[in-house]
Amino acid sequence: MLKFKKNHYTIEEVTLCGETVRFRAFRDLVYVEKPVNVEFQKMNLFVPESYYEGTSINGYDLLSAPVFMPNTVGGYMPGPADEPGANPFLQGKPNTIFRALQHGYVVASPAIRGRVQKGEDGHYNGKAPACVVDYKAAVRYLHFLADELPGDENKIITNGTSAGGALSSLMGSTGNHPDYEPYLQALGAADAGDDVFAASCYCPIINLEHADMAYEWEFCGVNDFHRANMKMDEGGRPVFTPVDGEMTEEQIRVSVEEKALFPAYVNSLGLKDENGAPLTLDADGEGSLKEYVKHIVMESAQRALDGGVNLADKTWLTIENGKVQSMDFAAYVKDITRMKTAPAFDALDMMSPENEEFGTESIERCHFTAYSQAHDTVGGTLAEPELIAKMNPLTFIGKADTAKHWRIRHGAYDRDTSLAIPFILATTLKNHGFDVDFAYPWGLPHSGDYDLDELFGWIDDLCR
Ligand code: DHB
Repeated sequence: MLKFKKNHYTIEEVTLCGETVRFRAFRDLVYVEKPVNVEFQKMNLFVPESYYEGTSINGYDLLSAPVFMPNTVGGYMPGPADEPGANPFLQGKPNTIFRALQHGYVVASPAIRGRVQKGEDGHYNGKAPACVVDYKAAVRYLHFLADELPGDENKIITNGTSAGGALSSLMGSTGNHPDYEPYLQALGAADAGDDVFAASCYCPIINLEHADMAYEWEFCGVNDFHRANMKMDEGGRPVFTPVDGEMTEEQIRVSVEEKALFPAYVNSLGLKDENGAPLTLDADGEGSLKEYVKHIVMESAQRALDGGVNLADKTWLTIENGKVQSMDFAAYVKDITRMKTAPAFDALDMMSPENEEFGTESIERCHFTAYSQAHDTVGGTLAEPELIAKMNPLTFIGKADTAKHWRIRHGAYDRDTSLAIPFILATTLKNHGFDVDFAYPWGLPHSGDYDLDELFGWIDDLCR
């Protein structure tokens, strides 16, 4: 039986950049009865210490505070349980957990398994859908023990970036869906719900089986690529090395073929704008869906302009009398540059992170698209269709206890996946009647947690 020992805590203080947060820490809460990797199936819980002295923060108290539940997953790698502290990507400024505690949230930080992990028997045990299953098991633990825990477990808000944003979107979309039940049962997850109140998703790397075609819909025609490999130095600081190149003729052919697959997929979704008009694409990838995507980028540019940002060097925008009038999509894409070669996700040699995510207990890597399986160069096999579906939030929207509230952000300069990918998620949710706050924030690359004031404001509007 899963338990919460409410007297097993430490009271701690962290000071950074002249700011101090004091909190009660409950660490290493193993959230399943039969863990297969105990280091990555446990969670840290942090509570503003002043709640135990009867003080309120921002209108919240020990029982009413929302439970903010960020994950640390990136690249579908294992994500350790985190701590309030310094953010290495922000020159050591306070991280999200520090900020969330300061703001008055209870913070639950689960560890989650990832694509490279193996058990003692030599079998992989962190491949899809382990990341979703672990996050769900952690939520079940919180719901199961809600009466003994600090915070309001009916107000769980998941948060993550990139692969972590994908996980947050899966938590939001798949609540209590029976497809995950066998995995949760096998781990001895708590007998409780795994639905969440709201999902915050930064640049979610989702819809993987359609992400290659979406990428080429956007980037086809741009044949040079530019990315940066990241390593941590001994001090735990990120160091970036640029990698630049030209796509091969083979890759350019793949780009053209993948782009041609996207309109039929988009048109099969039956997406609509808020007036009920269909959002579609013609065979060339032009049409109302593209116009709507452009409109959202232009809205973002307009907000930047209104805020005093100089957009004179953005020659792909037409601005008249302080108003963004139009956008040259091809010139925009050339300006932000291509990051990935075609196919962007399901690599023909299966060397992408996503190929590794879709491996099995005994197979390191698999394909997850019919196209790349058909063009495979290394004798690979296709993942089970049911597994691929379990990793796509679109499978479940409106078919599970889907979260009512969504905040989705994808930087206007993000090149890790197509602008169309978060757009399709946001539009599908809206078309099903869910509350969605969606934007392509100006000037931002692939990243997250850059607007915590706005994120926390959104949470407060929902919870207070
Ligand atoms: C992440 C980034 C990617 O480009 C990708 O394909 C998968 C994951 C990430 O940052 O988590």
